[in-house]
Amino acid sequence: MSTSLQERVELLNSRFAVAQQLRFTSHDSGQVVGVVSTPVCDGEFFLHGAHVTRYRPRGFEELLFVSDEAIFRDGKAIRGGVPICFPWFGPHPTDPAAPAHGHARTHEWELTRTANSPAGALQVELHAVFDPFDVVYTIEFGSELTLSLKVTNQSPTPVTFEAALHSYFRLKDVREVAVSGLESVAFLDQLTGATEAPSNAPIRFTEETDRIYQDNLDVITISDRLANRNVVIEKRGAPSTIVWNPWIAKSQRTGDFGDEEWTQMCCIESASVGANAIELATGESHELVAKHRLVTQTP
Ligand code: BG6
Repeated sequence: MSTSLQERVELLNSRFAVAQQLRFTSHDSGQVVGVVSTPVCDGEFFLHGAHVTRYRPRGFEELLFVSDEAIFRDGKAIRGGVPICFPWFGPHPTDPAAPAHGHARTHEWELTRTANSPAGALQVELHAVFDPFDVVYTIEFGSELTLSLKVTNQSPTPVTFEAALHSYFRLKDVREVAVSGLESVAFLDQLTGATEAPSNAPIRFTEETDRIYQDNLDVITISDRLANRNVVIEKRGAPSTIVWNPWIAKSQRTGDFGDEEWTQMCCIESASVGANAIELATGESHELVAKHRLVTQTP
């Protein structure tokens, strides 16, 4: 480990380690990683991108998918876990040279606080400024994984932003899961540009899928029958949901993603994008919250 990296890890441990629950260490890539182990869960996050890469409540296997081909490098987003898309989603609206999904997922965030919540969860707070936005991201590793992105407009004029908590969920086989909670919502098919009527049925993955659902705050459930578990997603301040699986050809085109890995994941993103972008007056704040929990299926 280089001296500066070692010093950084030591400083973080001296200021922010939580006895028996959180230690900082250096990842093989040379990035700093927080390793969480509490009485109710294990987890991991990087300061690079404020990126949660692991979460496993006791009694379950890992919730999140991270590609075996993920690249851990400055300037590159980690393929998997929960990247933060901010302050825009997808391509930049006017600048084709700007990075897809904004700067937050490749930014080196500042750790500002660690603590135990009154309910016993380990809370980690990270901070970043993306002019004119001041952003506080709070991760709660408890019996649920709760993510909260609080954005404040620091400019003298109103500003608009988009955001998505781009969660990659680990599945036994995407072809065997069903996603409920969006049955009655129309969606934009990003692959065709068409707006499609509500399907009135749970989502099943049979091909490349890239959809934006708007104006919906209902609970979303991924039923992963082969894993005998449900992933339950509750959200607040995030009326958009993006549902994504790259399927075969896009997986092959994506450098940091294994050709066969599309079978093991889907993304269900808690977001505010497009017509649900958030406008903030001067000094105003908005908070997007997503809670993720695992539940055993009952026969
Ligand atoms: C999803 C988008 O949110 O992210 C897709 O809807 C995109 O269009 C996917 O392909 C992955 O994006 P990236 O930039 O991480 O490869």
